[in-house]
Amino acid sequence: MDVPVAQRDRAGLEFLGSLQHHAGGVLQPAAGARYASLVPDPPPDIQGRRRSVAESLGGYGPWLFDRLLTRYVAEEIYVRSIPAAERARPVIEDWLDVPDDAPGSLTLNSGLVPPAYYSAGFHLTTGGWDGHDLMGVVISDLGYKYVLMPGGVGAVRAGENLMDQRTQVALEAPRRDYRRVLEAGCGNGRFAAVLSREFPDAQYVGVELSKTQLQYARARSAHEGLSWELIQAAAEDTGLPDASVDLVAIFTLFHETPPKATEAILAEMFRVLEPGGDLVMGDIAPFERNDAFRSVVLDWETDHRGEPFMRSFLHTDLPGLVKQAGFGDVEAYGLGKGDYPWVVRARKEA
Ligand SMILES: C[S@@+](CC[C@H](N)C(=O)[O-])C[C@H]1O[C@@H](n2cnc3c(N)ncnc32)[C@H](O)[C@@H]1O
Repeated sequence: MDVPVAQRDRAGLEFLGSLQHHAGGVLQPAAGARYASLVPDPPPDIQGRRRSVAESLGGYGPWLFDRLLTRYVAEEIYVRSIPAAERARPVIEDWLDVPDDAPGSLTLNSGLVPPAYYSAGFHLTTGGWDGHDLMGVVISDLGYKYVLMPGGVGAVRAGENLMDQRTQVALEAPRRDYRRVLEAGCGNGRFAAVLSREFPDAQYVGVELSKTQLQYARARSAHEGLSWELIQAAAEDTGLPDASVDLVAIFTLFHETPPKATEAILAEMFRVLEPGGDLVMGDIAPFERNDAFRSVVLDWETDHRGEPFMRSFLHTDLPGLVKQAGFGDVEAYGLGKGDYPWVVRARKEA
């Protein structure tokens, strides 16, 4: 939505966007180049790489400022955008208020007990994904719009277009004639918007734990004249019937789940996918596909930017888990710079 943002709030958020852009677009590449020149033969393992980067760049200003600014911006986004959203509350509430008879549906589950790992807190959001009742707008229309789109976030580099990356992944699905597409971990509907555009004849179903993200997705669907079916549930236990969808599409869910949950979610996706159906997923490339400096930058997110499962995800054999869940024709490959987005696709054999 187009949030009416007061001049002072907008200036503060744009300042954060510029800081992040400078950190990710100038300081970090400088640090990466210096590391590559100082350590042409880096250690193969992450502990060794962390140590080696700390030793060789420990006194290098661009690296220290890149990390400082990235952490500062990640926290400050919420310090600035929550009050900005509060000041626009009546307009936001009006936008979120979707009539019950609007096409599509939102099924909330007030009794849902989220998996324990979900309370670990993500992206340093104040109070977690649902830490504020306007968090959908706070994340999407303030944090992303003003700060993270221009500045980059996680594996998305400054200046890269995170919607184009979602489109690239959607286009890796082998067919165009799906009838029912399930997205696990749909958030506020960014990938859903792409899937609806690429598969206009398919019914879109999104499963998500966060109530505020789902409410945002519901409003987005209604305002765009779409009819998304949105369900508050854990992707491990969607409640959907067996063999009821013919495409499962997932974008950047698994770097937010511990390996055991990833296994459980893949088993659930296998159950709900009909024989002959496809699985297509986009996320961050595994550790071995990232150069030494980049792997340390990503690993850093685990301890410092609210990505508690990034480290374990980087070392997870996702294609192996997909095979273990029963899928066949498993392929894994990178699409963009630094192999991001990393695609894993597979089929449930007919
Ligand atoms: C990084 S966001 C990606 C959202 C969306 N797929 C997109 O492309 O914008 C990951 C989402 O997964 C959700 N999530 C994490 N664990 C989940 C689980 N076990 N079941 C359902 N959703 C989950 C989070 O709440 C969050 O909204």
